Amino acid sequence: METRSQWGTRAGFILAAVGSAIGLGNIWRFPAVAYDNGGGAFFIPYLFALLTAGIPILILEFTMGHKYRGSAPLTYKRINKNSEFIGWWAVAVAFVISTYYSVIIAWAISYSVFSLKLTWGEDTGAFLMNDYLHRTVDPGQVGSLVPGVLIPLIIVWIVVLGILFRGVKKGIEIANRIFIPALVIIFLIIVIRAVTLPGAAAGLDAFFKPDFSRIFESGVWVQAYGQIFFSLSIAFAIMITYSSYLPKKSDITNNAFITGFGNSAFELLAGIGVFAVLGFMATQSNLPIDEVVEGGVGLAFVVFPQIINQFPALNELFGFLFFASLVLAGLTSLMSITETYVAGLVDKFNISRTKAVLFGGGLAAIISFLFATQGGLFFLDAADYFINQFGVALLGLVEVVLIAWVFRKLGEFKSHANEISDIRLGSWWTISLGLITPLVLGYMMFDLLKTNLLREFDSPTGNYEGYSDTFILFGGWAVAILALIVGILFATSKWKKDPTYVEDTDKKEVN
Ligand code: ALA
Repeated sequence: METRSQWGTRAGFILAAVGSAIGLGNIWRFPAVAYDNGGGAFFIPYLFALLTAGIPILILEFTMGHKYRGSAPLTYKRINKNSEFIGWWAVAVAFVISTYYSVIIAWAISYSVFSLKLTWGEDTGAFLMNDYLHRTVDPGQVGSLVPGVLIPLIIVWIVVLGILFRGVKKGIEIANRIFIPALVIIFLIIVIRAVTLPGAAAGLDAFFKPDFSRIFESGVWVQAYGQIFFSLSIAFAIMITYSSYLPKKSDITNNAFITGFGNSAFELLAGIGVFAVLGFMATQSNLPIDEVVEGGVGLAFVVFPQIINQFPALNELFGFLFFASLVLAGLTSLMSITETYVAGLVDKFNISRTKAVLFGGGLAAIISFLFATQGGLFFLDAADYFINQFGVALLGLVEVVLIAWVFRKLGEFKSHANEISDIRLGSWWTISLGLITPLVLGYMMFDLLKTNLLREFDSPTGNYEGYSDTFILFGGWAVAILALIVGILFATSKWKKDPTYVEDTDKKEVN
């Protein structure tokens, strides 16, 4: 008998998938990555990656989840019993991401409060590092817990785990129905205000002005693929898990297009908003725009507070709205990241959702406290960089090669998606997944390994200056490799519930 939880409505599923996709990656990562990698010219590799990897993999993962009705480990197990470890590896990568992703949301909560009184003062960089994070230790040292980070972090976990306790329909779906429209409205207000500020045009000019010489650099393509994978929440178990809750009658391909284009539209909107305010700041301070652009932590928590200080009016309100949008975008993504291991534990160990949320989420929450220490930012940077390159992107490569070439499932999955979707998949999908993505990702991995073995770090968040190579190398590699080992270990333990796959037709039933 079919007992798996289900989304209440199609809109509920789409909002949840879009909510997972739109996250910190859209607001704090994309604008700076695009700017650093050729501005307007970056859109060429970005669109290429979206159309040949992003959306095709999204359709693939929606199909896998829908067909096999399981968390990532169960889905992979049902495709082939030897591939279960890939599912657990993806879940382990999601687990690691959730431990630091939650901390960035916690910072955003603190900054929403700070913005009400512009507590950060004039020197926003010093405020972040000294007054807020108390980063007075060297890379690799832990120091003590920072209560200002720990308290909002506990709040983040209470909210996310509270929502997950309530289940798919009553928890995740309802939360996304409230958070996503609120996020879109808040963000539109911010962007409209941003583009009407003096100097906004100069910022947009810098953002869109193409530097075509850059598109021949392989690093630019690596960044485009990395951005698409992280931003679309693909290759780390999320979309397989979410689509396993789809009802039998669901339009897979259409849903994937809506999710993919919805996410990119938001990303573009974030880029426009961010660069408009950067243009405003550059004009106010008489600096060239490239001196005010920063990625990651620097952009959201150092440059933005400076800009908010200079706003002509309603500074506190706009500060609050900006950080509230980060919190909302982050929470809806964190729910999906955490749901991957909740679903995995429920499927494999046949425990209740409540227990899985308590064990899985509880453990992630405890580990996340490491990033709420004085040395937390260093650990966060190292974990983020390595888990993205050698977790998410590598998993994407392994996934497409396995499905397309080892198990040769593309034809079967294509028929499955076509049977229930309005848009019919043709050779675009097969060629993208069977040929283009493995080739580009394969080359990318080779290039990345070379770079990292040669120790030339270039992270999108750009916070590596001053770190010792040893710290990043050992810390980062340890985390990335540990995720794989954990994946293998989980795959070797016994299933408490029969994972056998029975074709889901009207005549037969899924167990
Ligand atoms: N897709 C989520 C983001 O962009 C993880 O932040």
